[in-house]
Amino acid sequence: MSRTARFTLHPAFTVGPVDPRLFGSFVEHLGRCVHTGIHEPGHPAADEDGLRTDVLELVRELGVTVVRYPGGNFVSGYRWEDGTGPVALRPRRLDLAWRSTESNRFGISEFMTFLRKAGPGTEPMMALNLGTRGVAEALDLLEYANHPAGTELADRRITHGDKEPFGIRLWCLGNEMDGPWQTGHKTAEEYGRLAAETARAMRQFDPELELVVCGSSHRSMETFGAWEATVLAETYELVDHVSLHAYYQETDGDRDSFLASAVDMESFIEAVVATCDHVGARLKSSKRLTLSFDEWNIWYHGRPNPHPVEDWQEAPRLLEDVYTVTDAVVLGSLLIALLRHADRVAVACLAQLVNVIAPIMTEPGGPAWRQTTFFPFAQASRHGRGTVLDVRVDAPRHETRVHGEVPLLHATAVRAEDGTVTVFAVNRDRHAPLPLEVVLHGLGLTRVVEHTALADADPDARNTADAPDRVVPHPVSGAGLADGVLKATLEPLSWNVIRLA
Ligand code: AHR
Repeated sequence: MSRTARFTLHPAFTVGPVDPRLFGSFVEHLGRCVHTGIHEPGHPAADEDGLRTDVLELVRELGVTVVRYPGGNFVSGYRWEDGTGPVALRPRRLDLAWRSTESNRFGISEFMTFLRKAGPGTEPMMALNLGTRGVAEALDLLEYANHPAGTELADRRITHGDKEPFGIRLWCLGNEMDGPWQTGHKTAEEYGRLAAETARAMRQFDPELELVVCGSSHRSMETFGAWEATVLAETYELVDHVSLHAYYQETDGDRDSFLASAVDMESFIEAVVATCDHVGARLKSSKRLTLSFDEWNIWYHGRPNPHPVEDWQEAPRLLEDVYTVTDAVVLGSLLIALLRHADRVAVACLAQLVNVIAPIMTEPGGPAWRQTTFFPFAQASRHGRGTVLDVRVDAPRHETRVHGEVPLLHATAVRAEDGTVTVFAVNRDRHAPLPLEVVLHGLGLTRVVEHTALADADPDARNTADAPDRVVPHPVSGAGLADGVLKATLEPLSWNVIRLA
């Protein structure tokens, strides 16, 4: 077989429009994501609200469109009222999920201020506690957040300094309720019922809300598939999206399988779509659900924490994974997987935003910097808006231990409104460059604007506080477009962005 990877692009063959909310992220009260991450009163870069302006700048550069808050596992024991009102009066509480102490110095009002400053149109995605709480508390939060004035809860918000309602449209009906680790974990029947009751009541307040029901917390859960079917039987007509969560990591030094993690992500998406459509068919419904991949990332779960942490500490150093070039290439491939399913994935949140398995790192009182994984996300968010073109790859393949035979090329292409096209491509071959040829039909493209790659002679290179710019994308020369064919070479183990106009 030829060593060249090929595909054809045509404007008539599309996957669908990209919902900008595919480029979302996640802020949980976990470790140092909130405290000393986005919020650090007294830091030299903190503004009048205690928000770190150096972090805000990076969040804007990252191009985050929606932010899920306040958890995660944290939310299943959270009392939202604790994070409201005068800061000095807010209670300190145990956070059972992460065995930490929560000061509640940051709550819904501070979060909304953060979003306003994070960029125009950055949307909140609010998760509800359906672990230790239920319908009544969900309705209370909804009224506090979204009702203009004239009731006890709306007026309480005004007294707290937020005259205008927050207008939160996107709500998660709990978090990972299928997981035995979840505070208030439920069976599918119990959760399906509670989610349906909560959704129905919330829609009595506002039928236009967008509601996300919990799917499985991982594809490998024993209840995967059955959980979705049972929960959706109760909630299908009441919700808009089903959630998926997935974290990947390299195990046993099996880098080739790790580099093909997107194979798993794509099958996961397709399996959940099939389950949704099966339930829809059984219910004879004309409604089509979409997916909210509201936690995804690379997470080195099994690794011991290099930082000493004690139980019930405030803002401990938890889950502070430091990402390599290889991790960034995998993350790029996961973004490609999401874009390739843009017809059904409406929302996706990179978990998380700062310090906790995050693209942005900070030191308390010190600098903020970009991890390697920052770059593919920022580039995809900037150049991945428009319509995803259908990409059917014809490429050399290799064998992996976990995923069997996989193509060396993973790719997608997005056509922007102005007609420019961006090709996103990963070369999974760790040792050899991969020649790429793309036949371009009917797109009116005549030139390569830019080809950049994230790749390095050291695939384990990373950015740190001392060397924050060790890894950055670099320009690649040699790509050309002639007679309707784009030709480029993808470096070994690389994430590529090729822009055509
Ligand atoms: O993102 C870290 C944790 O992973 C979240 O709190 C939880 O929802 C998931 O298991």
